[in-house]
Amino acid sequence: METIRVGGPATSVDFVLGLGDQVEGGSLEETQADLDAFAGHAAQWECPFYPVPGNHDIGAREGDPQWEQPFLSAFDLTATNYSVVRDGLRFLMLNNAGTLACSAVVARRRADWLATQLTTGEKLPTVLCCHVPLLPMRDPEVLAASCRFQPWQCAEPAVLEAVRAHRDQVVAVLSGHLHLTGVVEDCGVTHVCVAGVATFPSDYAVYTHDDGRLAVEIRQVPPSLLDPASNIHGPPRHDRDFVDRGHTSPVEYVMGRDDERRFCIDLGRR
Ligand SMILES: [Fe+2]
Repeated sequence: METIRVGGPATSVDFVLGLGDQVEGGSLEETQADLDAFAGHAAQWECPFYPVPGNHDIGAREGDPQWEQPFLSAFDLTATNYSVVRDGLRFLMLNNAGTLACSAVVARRRADWLATQLTTGEKLPTVLCCHVPLLPMRDPEVLAASCRFQPWQCAEPAVLEAVRAHRDQVVAVLSGHLHLTGVVEDCGVTHVCVAGVATFPSDYAVYTHDDGRLAVEIRQVPPSLLDPASNIHGPPRHDRDFVDRGHTSPVEYVMGRDDERRFCIDLGRR
C-alpha cells in the first residue's frame, strides 16, 4: 500500500490493476468487512484502482448478486465484468472467480460478455484481466499437487477460445490466484500470472507502456515484509518442495525464471 501511496517508491503509476484475491473473506459479513477495509486503503492512492473479483472476494459465487454486492459497493462498480480504456489500451476486467463451481448459465453469460467486448467498438490492443489463469502456469500434474486446491486454471474453455480467436486484438492475459509467478505464451498471446503480495514471493508487477510495447518487471514487497514460510508451494504447507520441467529449483518454481520476471510484450507484431 505504501509503495503506491503518494510519496512511495511507485508514486508515478497511472493506475493499479487488482487481479485478486483482494481479501481473505469468509462469511458474507466477514467478506464485506474485509473488502471495505481494503477499499479504505486503496482509496488513499491517488491513482484509480481497477479490480477483478477473486474467489475469496465473492465466496466463489460468481453471478450471485448477494455475494457480488459487497465487492461492487466497496469499489464503486456497477458490474463485475467491465472495461476500461487507458493510454490506447483496452482492459477487459472479467469475473471468472466462480470457475468450476458456477452454473452453465453463469459461464455462458461470462463468455457472451467477453465475445461482445471483442467484437464491438474500436479495435484496440486489449489486455484481459481475470483472477483464474486460462492455462496451466506449470506442468499440470505438479501444479495440481503444489496448489492442493481446485481450480488452478479456468475450467470452462470458452474464454480461452475467445482469446485465441481474437489474438489479433488480445495482447496479454493477466491473472493471479496461484500464489506463484509465471508466463506462458499461447498462440501469440502472453499469459502472465503474478503471485501477489500476500504470500512469498510476495510479487507485484509493474507494466510500462512505451514505444509499442509493454515492458514488464516483477517486483517484491520490501524485505521486511517477505516471509518464506508463507510460500504455499513448499514447507511448511507441504512436507516437500516442488519443481517442474521448466523450473528446476523450488525458488524458481514459485518465483519463475528470470525471463518470467523481466520481459516485454510487443504490441505491434499483430
Ligand atoms: Fe484465488
